[in-house]
Amino acid sequence: MIEAINLSKVYPATDHTKEVYALKNVSVKIEKGEFVSVIGLSGAGKSTFLRCINRMNTISEGKMIFNGIDITNYSENQLRDIRKKIGFIFQQFNLVKNISVLNNVLIGRIGYNSVWKNVLGKFSKEDIEKARHYINEVGLIEKIRVRADNLSGGQQQRVAIARAVVQEPDVILADEPMASLDPKLSDVILGLLKKFNYENNITILLNVHVIEYAKKYSTRIIGFNKGEIVFDGKPDELDHHTIEHIYKQDKTELENL
Ligand SMILES: Nc1ncnc2c1ncn2[C@@H]1O[C@H](COP(=O)(O)OP(=O)(O)OP(=O)(O)O)[C@@H](O)[C@H]1O
Ligand SMILES: [Mg+2]
Repeated sequence: MIEAINLSKVYPATDHTKEVYALKNVSVKIEKGEFVSVIGLSGAGKSTFLRCINRMNTISEGKMIFNGIDITNYSENQLRDIRKKIGFIFQQFNLVKNISVLNNVLIGRIGYNSVWKNVLGKFSKEDIEKARHYINEVGLIEKIRVRADNLSGGQQQRVAIARAVVQEPDVILADEPMASLDPKLSDVILGLLKKFNYENNITILLNVHVIEYAKKYSTRIIGFNKGEIVFDGKPDELDHHTIEHIYKQDKTELENL
């Protein structure tokens, strides 16, 4: 359902920076229902890869195919329908702070409504029912009327998960969703992603720094090094040797960090 074909991403040079080859010739296919963890050093290209899938990034070379459709050169307008089917979860939650949990989750339904309904903030009974359902699933029904900025970080991230799932997406892209949280909350967040992966057959792509989590939750691990895929296999194939290979770094690069 997601296929990158010889995909490259170059961030152009600016007045203060050189151009960056963030992804180089990446070819990979991800099937419906997989739980894929993407690992690699800081700067390896993990976020860039996720952002090419929903085309938050433009693509420099190669192709991105989503559900059989070549979206490489899709316009923002054309992307609207595609993005309905792609949930995104960020490290910093990205909720609207001054509105309730319910209204934040309803944002996940916007792609299904007409513009005028969205402008008026009108949601159907079905939309509200769906939102309530997933707020309950993430254990926050008691907080449904609470403003997002009155929640803890872990609770905010659970709202973000409900907002992604209420989209009824084919895939959720999660870019280090636990990185701003207490380690013991990581299992709560990843456990919820696993549950929706399993129960709703939502494909999960998770960028993660902690290898233990990648091994515990995923069915497949992809390792990036300097914009290239250097490992693609099952969690139990990830041994010391392959881990070293994925996390290999030159001294000069360290000096540039
Ligand atoms: N908007 C941008 N403009 C220019 N360069 C960028 C931009 N975003 C990322 N880069 C560069 O592209 C490379 C890959 O970055 P990316 O954010 O994809 O890495 P990452 O694997 O997600 O790292 P991290 O683990 O730190 O989140 C890095 O060299 C980074 O500096
Ligand atoms: Mg990143």
